Amino acid sequence: MTISSKRNTTFPEEIAKLDLNENPLGASPLAIAAGQQAMLTCHRYPDTLGLSLKKTLSTHLDILIENIALGNGSESLLELIVKNTLGPLDSAVVPNFCFLGLLKILENAKVILKIADNSHLNISPIKLLEAVDPMTKILFLVNPNNPTGSYTNKSDLFFLLSHLPKKILVVIDEAYAEYVEASDYPNSLQLLEKYPNLIILRTFSKIYGLAGLRLGYAISTPEIITKLNNFSSLPFRINAVALATAETSLKDQEHIHLTRLLNRQGYLQISQGLRDLGLEVLPSCTSFICVNLKVPSWPICQQLLLCGIYVRSLCDYGLPNFLRVSIGTEKQNLAFLNNLKKILLK
Ligand SMILES: Cc1ncc(COP(=O)(O)O)c(C=O)c1O
Repeated sequence: MTISSKRNTTFPEEIAKLDLNENPLGASPLAIAAGQQAMLTCHRYPDTLGLSLKKTLSTHLDILIENIALGNGSESLLELIVKNTLGPLDSAVVPNFCFLGLLKILENAKVILKIADNSHLNISPIKLLEAVDPMTKILFLVNPNNPTGSYTNKSDLFFLLSHLPKKILVVIDEAYAEYVEASDYPNSLQLLEKYPNLIILRTFSKIYGLAGLRLGYAISTPEIITKLNNFSSLPFRINAVALATAETSLKDQEHIHLTRLLNRQGYLQISQGLRDLGLEVLPSCTSFICVNLKVPSWPICQQLLLCGIYVRSLCDYGLPNFLRVSIGTEKQNLAFLNNLKKILLK
């Protein structure tokens, strides 16, 4: 079955934008129609509580409205948590090779960063626990992880949570959770009751294809959610178009099904194509693939760019030979593979 994007985007068709893990199908057509409808009343301020979206989310996730805080992209929630929880003498634990956006926020906040070693590029709960010190206030986990594409399974997460003092906040960034099909991927929402020190972050930027609208949400205990809402003094953080579009995107599960199908096909296509080139591909449960080119990836990414292929060199992640490619449409994936082959065989 061939699934293709019928919509025009800001990028010409010959450009394969495979660097930011966006949904190659775009947003749900029903969600876009809801956003257009919301434009008709855009002279009004948005609902400051985002109640309608929260109601739909609470039904969708089987949680209470009181468990949800909305943010202008999940990164803005991360920033709010960091700025309002960590002081200059506090430390934050993060695994090595994790989402650069998080590291930038922590660096800007000038907190003490404790980077836990990984084992073979996978997040290690034991090493995370070893990195905790008496000043640690937050431990961050990205699950599944960006840029490696690996995930922390149920037993590793249970181990981590059960060995960590409850006074340490655990923030799990689950930006790609909706892509994961592994049966041992933890349902973190079910852990909230036992672990009230947990904050889960999700986003509409990835599988829902709404990155440009900037909408993410946090799930936690009502006490933490109230604090999180009070951290920001801005009453209208989320715009009305984003609220309406996101709500309908949750209801269009057919679009999510198609996106997963395209992603699954693309995963097989890209990983097989890369293996055919003799390259090491890291297993991924997300919408991107991390590959070891065995030579510095930066110059190769520059050459791919000249061919209209945008991918991400992982040199600034401390993985200079690795490249991260988002899974695109069949045509985009093929363009990436063909051009990479030409460059590597030159
Ligand atoms: C792990 C992770 N978290 C968060 C984000 C950003 O999410 P948002 O667009 O909701 O700020 C990204 C984007 O690439 C990501 O990879």
